[in-house]
Amino acid sequence: MERTLSIIKPDAVQKSVIGKIVDRFESNGLRIAAMKKVKLSAEDAANFYAVHKERPFFKDLVEYMTSGPVVVMVLEGENAVAKNRELMGATDPKEAEPGTIRADFAESIEANAVHGSDSLENAEKEIRFFFAEREIL
Ligand code: CMP
Repeated sequence: MERTLSIIKPDAVQKSVIGKIVDRFESNGLRIAAMKKVKLSAEDAANFYAVHKERPFFKDLVEYMTSGPVVVMVLEGENAVAKNRELMGATDPKEAEPGTIRADFAESIEANAVHGSDSLENAEKEIRFFFAEREIL
């Protein structure tokens, strides 16, 4: 059993596809162990994406991630990290496999509907960033 962090980003929340995205997880063996809707501050977004702070898209990414509420979730299941990434599809929706969340719901490489942890180690850090242990059930 693994846990991973998923974020439904502002573009997808704005389009009212939270339920459709959650269904992809639940229909594919990923249980929602924790879930909440939050509005990130610029400081939150900059800290969460600190690994990207030297990248040219960093400032736009922080602006975008604070442009509206997001839904953060802990997904739990067998191979949850890899399974979530498979369900999301490639970062750039133009390259995402048909039937993936990003192919179906993302707007662009930046407004790409969802975030998912890229390793078990980062999943633990990212889950701790958003959730206290008592919120994960
Ligand atoms: P995410 O998987 O959340 O991780 C970093 C985010 O930066 C990525 O999804 C995109 O939303 C955003 N981003 C914007 N431009 C790029 C780019 N050129 N390459 C990778 N990520 C980008």
